Amino acid sequence: MAKIVLGLWTTHGPQLSTTPEEWMLRVPGDRARSHWFKGRRYPFDELVDLRRAENLAERSTLEARTRNHSACQAAIAEVARIWSDVSPDVAVIFGNDQRELVLPQLQPAYTVYYGDTFWNGPMPEWRSAKLPAGIREAEWANRPEVRTEYQGMPELAGKLLNRGLDERWDFAASNEWPEYPDHHHLGTPHAFAYVLRRVMEDRTIPTLPIITNTFFPPNQPRPWRCFELGKLVHSVIEDWDSDLRVAVVGSGGMSHFVINEEFDRGLIGAIQRRDENHLKAIDSNLMKDGTSELLNWVSASGCLFETDLQGDLIDYVPCYRSEAGSGTAQGFVAWR
Ligand SMILES: [Fe+2]
Repeated sequence: MAKIVLGLWTTHGPQLSTTPEEWMLRVPGDRARSHWFKGRRYPFDELVDLRRAENLAERSTLEARTRNHSACQAAIAEVARIWSDVSPDVAVIFGNDQRELVLPQLQPAYTVYYGDTFWNGPMPEWRSAKLPAGIREAEWANRPEVRTEYQGMPELAGKLLNRGLDERWDFAASNEWPEYPDHHHLGTPHAFAYVLRRVMEDRTIPTLPIITNTFFPPNQPRPWRCFELGKLVHSVIEDWDSDLRVAVVGSGGMSHFVINEEFDRGLIGAIQRRDENHLKAIDSNLMKDGTSELLNWVSASGCLFETDLQGDLIDYVPCYRSEAGSGTAQGFVAWR
């Protein structure tokens, strides 16, 4: 039977792959719009007032940003070291799509990728010119330098789709990424591409992408459902007649675009004590915008709580870039 030998929860956002100076490229955008924080939307200036006691101006100076950036790079190196040390045969990644593959015309809650291969490649200039400043600079972490084909896991994907049909899960299925110029974007969504690039360090292994619509209304799945998805994936892996060693990864989060440390630490604590009820009962109002990517952490937890793997937090780094608390909190957990 296949065996899960590694569990990872990791963030994947642009602040991990840009300099502390480049983090500030996103601040004009932060100021120009309102943000979700603790279940409500606030204009930037109101957040500055609301959070004044937290000294976030001091926590987002160049010095503080540089410290946080270094901590993140050390954590990423540790995740990559654990990965290469365990050296799994295949990977199952729970990730989200951010208008890379999926458009509003047809937006499934969950999509299982069952193709033999999938691809990624460099971004053409006309496309990268359309990316916001501060995101564009991070694209090196989401793309190989030349067009590259990766191995999918059609056998396991087929088993998951089939088991799903028997157990009330009607997944969307995909066997090919769309190509430009017909499609507006190209290649592998960053939630998956980041793992291939910065966790596997381009020494890729066959990978099953499970794509969740965490971001976009009106059909983001509930946390309890994501946890159940993880359990389903666990049962399919357990029953897979194969001697392959499997890594399971939850890719996304943590709180952003405004950081909520209390929320993040609650979620990390729940993973540490395998608290299924905490994760299933998370209020979806606390998981808006990018924070919603933590649904991928919940799915991974549903799978990994069923194993006897053990491990701990590698680091939690709230990477503030403004006095309103905008930025992304970075988190890294590994079980082996
Ligand atoms: Fe993301």
